[in-house]
Amino acid sequence: MEKMRATVFRGKDQIQIEEVERPHAGVGEAVIRVTLTTICGTDLHIVRGEYPVREGLIIGHEPVGVIVELGPGVHGYKTGDRVLVGAITPCGQCRACLSGDLSQCGGGEDYQALGGWRFGNTINGAQAEYLLVPHAQANLAKIPDELADEQVVLLADIASTGFSGAESGQVRIGDAVVVFAQGPIGLCATAGAKLMGAALIIGVDGDENRLQMARRMGCDVVLDYRECDVVSEVKKLTGGGADVAIEALGTQQTFESALRSLRPGGTLSSLGVYSGKLQIPYDAFAAGIGDDRIITTLCPGGKERMRRLMEIVRRGRVDLTPLLTHTFSLDQIVEGYSLFGERRDGVLKVAIKP
Ligand SMILES: NC(=O)c1ccc[n+]([C@@H]2O[C@H](COP(=O)([O-])OP(=O)(O)OC[C@H]3O[C@@H](n4cnc5c(N)ncnc54)[C@H](O)[C@@H]3O)[C@@H](O)[C@H]2O)c1
Ligand SMILES: [Zn+2]
Ligand SMILES: [Zn+2]
Repeated sequence: MEKMRATVFRGKDQIQIEEVERPHAGVGEAVIRVTLTTICGTDLHIVRGEYPVREGLIIGHEPVGVIVELGPGVHGYKTGDRVLVGAITPCGQCRACLSGDLSQCGGGEDYQALGGWRFGNTINGAQAEYLLVPHAQANLAKIPDELADEQVVLLADIASTGFSGAESGQVRIGDAVVVFAQGPIGLCATAGAKLMGAALIIGVDGDENRLQMARRMGCDVVLDYRECDVVSEVKKLTGGGADVAIEALGTQQTFESALRSLRPGGTLSSLGVYSGKLQIPYDAFAAGIGDDRIITTLCPGGKERMRRLMEIVRRGRVDLTPLLTHTFSLDQIVEGYSLFGERRDGVLKVAIKP
């Protein structure tokens, strides 16, 4: 039996590198040798026991690699091809996928909430030497030769998610946009708002280092929520309220502030993962008759999404490499988790090299 090293979840606050069985490709599947991956904020939720996955699961959902095995029924690829695979791996065949709701993929016939998120959630994930890719025909995106792994790894999840905050919010040319939180997701939402043609982008955070990066990613103004009344500042800067407010943290406070920052008829585009109860005070959304829109989005995946995002990088529209602040080998991943989890040393994202 061939073995590989992988990051295995063993219960709350317990992850470790283990020798496990190497996967092989069945019908419609592929195996890639992972050449670069990273750690997501959602992986922290998993390790901290805040998002349940089964013990023994290999975690991680942001893979770049080289095809080493193709199962029957996967066409148009060969071993040795470099590929990017999205965090979300839709089947491309079910009712959800064919209706355009790829992230809520049912895999078989129907819809399943969050069903498109498989890696490191319902099946083994990417923080390993090898990764089994399901529904490979719909999910292997070839990487253009001129792009390095480091230029595309963040497209699998955080950039796809962050950009989608601006896309789902339907940012229009000339809009004023406020982005609540400038972590990796919020920073990519900022970049997304810029790509969509916003005239004014306001970034909110409380971390000096992140506010600085926010400017670099496209914010015209940054607000430190610890030092000002963000909602009234946004109202002042926008002359009455933002057209679109993007929530990129997942708390009652930021959700509510995002809603209160909108102009009448504005859009709240929510990306954060919430827990417990989320409340909407009646005055924050004009008692329900303010023509506001509230929209939520799970990271878009699939090979066409990845191709489009790689095109944006290849054409020089955006550069995400400044967000990759640290590098660890797979064997050092536990150290990587601790640095990332404690946000030490100005960390934004860590590159993990198997
Ligand atoms: N929708 C999706 O598909 C999807 C995908 C990945 C992650 N997420 C979620 O997105 C959220 C953000 O992820 P991340 O990795 O960027 O998180 P992160 O923890 O790295 O960053 C959060 C940022 O919020 C800032 N912050 C804290 N309190 C704040 C406040 N009151 N106002 C403004 N900023 C504040 C922090 O300083 C930090 O910079 C998480 O909830 C994560 O689970 C969603
Ligand atoms: Zn993620
Ligand atoms: Zn599907």
